[in-house]
Amino acid sequence: MSAERNKTEDDITAEVLQRFAETPDPRLRQIMLGLVKHLHAFVKEVELTEAEWFQAIEILTEAGRMCSDKRQEFILFSDTLGVSMVVDLLSHRKPDGATESTVFGPFHRLGAPELPTGGNIAQLDKTGTPTLVSGRVLDLDGNPIKGALLDVCQAQSNGLYDSQDAGLGGLHMRGKFRTDAEGCYLVRTVRPVNYPIPSDGPVGRMLRATGRHPWRPAHIHFVVSADGYEPVTTHIFDRTDEYLGSDAVFAVKDSLICDFVRHEGRESRGGEAERLGIDPPFLTAEFDFHLKPASERRATVLDAQQRLAALGAAD
Ligand code: BEZ
Ligand code: FE
Repeated sequence: MSAERNKTEDDITAEVLQRFAETPDPRLRQIMLGLVKHLHAFVKEVELTEAEWFQAIEILTEAGRMCSDKRQEFILFSDTLGVSMVVDLLSHRKPDGATESTVFGPFHRLGAPELPTGGNIAQLDKTGTPTLVSGRVLDLDGNPIKGALLDVCQAQSNGLYDSQDAGLGGLHMRGKFRTDAEGCYLVRTVRPVNYPIPSDGPVGRMLRATGRHPWRPAHIHFVVSADGYEPVTTHIFDRTDEYLGSDAVFAVKDSLICDFVRHEGRESRGGEAERLGIDPPFLTAEFDFHLKPASERRATVLDAQQRLAALGAAD
């Protein structure tokens, strides 16, 4: 028989680390050694019981079963545990002046239609307050970026994304817009509302068991890209929302908070609203995006969007 076998939990940790120590790829080695080190330390710190270990397996199994082209429970776990925002902050250390990014979320869908300036992404939404969102896409020196692409999406005024709404067959509240020669864009939509993230699965149970609420403050999603610039995946948030300080997914950044100004009465039917045939009451919001020059080619959240779409793709 060989020498002594593992005796203590620390012996096991040391042996597992040793087995990964020869991983040829240096980055994979770093990740696996860090994972084992922290995972073992966590299990030892909380003295995880066998029953709790099995419960964790059940939770992960259920999360996996819930995933489809319309649902991504693992992204929800990452978001509600704050991991997505830590990764976001590590990945996007912007120079001063560049628009900050925030979570990608699980509801992005490829294939949003390209719409003209002022196009309406909320055509089927009959209950929301009409809203015009406008602004410019600029470089870090304030020069306009012509032909930048804004991929916009939002929850409906009933708080549901199109993919969550059984009454809808296709895409809704999504559109792609291009900036003009002055870098200007104009999106017609309805006022964004706050909404709860899906809580009918293990993430919802975790939130309830820990006394947390599932609400996200009202926001509109943007992915802004242009040739030669680093794309930014972000939201704009409504300054008046009660959940700005307690977003279920920790995604609010001060620089992304924006005023949605309400216009009452006929006299307030200013240029764009009038041209688009929008009667008061309606809202306007203005937000400029600032892009930084592209650095070396890196995996971006645009790649993540393609990969998310592929996760749910049926053969
Ligand atoms: C969203 O804003 O669509 C979202 C982000 C993270 C988790 C759930 C929803
Ligand atoms: Fe959202």
